[in-house]
Amino acid sequence: MISVGVCGFGYWGPTLVRAFASNPAFRVAAVADAKPAAQDRVRALSPSVELYGEAQELVDSAEVDVVAIATPVLTHYPLALRALRRGKHVLVEKPMCTRVDEARELVAIAERMRRVLMVDHTYIFHSAVHKLKELKTSGALGEITYYDSLRVNLGLFQPDMSVLWDLAPHDFSIMNYLLEEQPVYVEATGYCHVNQNLPDIVYITLHYAARTIAHLNLSWMSPVKARRIAFGGTKQMVVWNDLDFDETLKIYDSGIEFRSEDERRVFIPGYRIGDIYSPRLARGEPLANLVEHLHRAIAGKEEPVVDGRAGLRVVELLERTQRALDSSLGKIAGLHTPKAPARIAR
Ligand SMILES: NC(=O)c1ccc[n+]([C@@H]2O[C@H](COP(=O)([O-])OP(=O)(O)OC[C@H]3O[C@@H](n4cnc5c(N)ncnc54)[C@H](O)[C@@H]3O)[C@@H](O)[C@H]2O)c1
Repeated sequence: MISVGVCGFGYWGPTLVRAFASNPAFRVAAVADAKPAAQDRVRALSPSVELYGEAQELVDSAEVDVVAIATPVLTHYPLALRALRRGKHVLVEKPMCTRVDEARELVAIAERMRRVLMVDHTYIFHSAVHKLKELKTSGALGEITYYDSLRVNLGLFQPDMSVLWDLAPHDFSIMNYLLEEQPVYVEATGYCHVNQNLPDIVYITLHYAARTIAHLNLSWMSPVKARRIAFGGTKQMVVWNDLDFDETLKIYDSGIEFRSEDERRVFIPGYRIGDIYSPRLARGEPLANLVEHLHRAIAGKEEPVVDGRAGLRVVELLERTQRALDSSLGKIAGLHTPKAPARIAR
């Protein structure tokens, strides 16, 4: 069995511990959390687990083969670096880290040490994403025209990161996986209502060379939770409502008839309204799929789908978007009460 140590037992750490404990290939050997209340919860849940107050001590433990990092984002880089240098495999929460140079260093050391570095971009293991990929790859959707994401809820406000760094990694990882290209131009704007350095609403528009546009509406200020992605093609369009467990994906056999430039001046576009189909999706839990994939990657049976390079591409996109956001917030600052350009807190 592979022994795993989980750093951080706050909101997401217990979910990781459960996922590892449910997979027969792994044994949860150790958990680290700085908070006494979290340590009490670990003791109540599994008294035999080795408990640490400081994540670095867990990373140094000879008992641990894999380090899973579910601590706040600013700790990801130093903990992952330390673990890789000690020859451990690493599963690090999204986003992998807060800077591109740090991400590159993690990729390089993982490759040098021949250790698996995986990022928990959980959605890549979601059956809806697999279906979208299949529809795109088979050509069923036609040419991809847009990706439109609504990812909003009330909070949870993070003390050390903006809504961009909290929620955009989900969409960026899905978009990178589906589109397999990087945008040529990124626009972003937003607003800091609560913490003047950390935007709580962010709107992002990404333009791709291949006639695709993407838009993300990210918010911690919405009274209702929504997780809705529309993925459009010239032949079919798909709406993925992650909160609808019966009809999670709906495929619309609808489209616009594209016409030549000459015709467009004279005619309105033709609309094609066809059937709506909701495919049956595999019900497996994405995190359980990710943990099994990690097991197979460590055993050398599969190449990691969300390896350090995939994590790096997400951090690159986050940095590009942050620059666009800083520029926009800098310009509008004079129109409102003056505020410093928003950055992820360092
Ligand atoms: N993949 C997903 O869908 C998903 C969902 C939620 C959160 N996350 C990610 O998980 C990570 C943690 O988020 P969270 O919401 O659980 O945060 P959290 O604040 O609820 O928990 C973090 C825990 O880490 C502990 N901690 C911090 N530094 C420590 C250290 N040096 N040593 C020991 N313990 C330490 C804190 O005491 C806290 O209990 C973030 O990167 C977040 O983006 C991922």
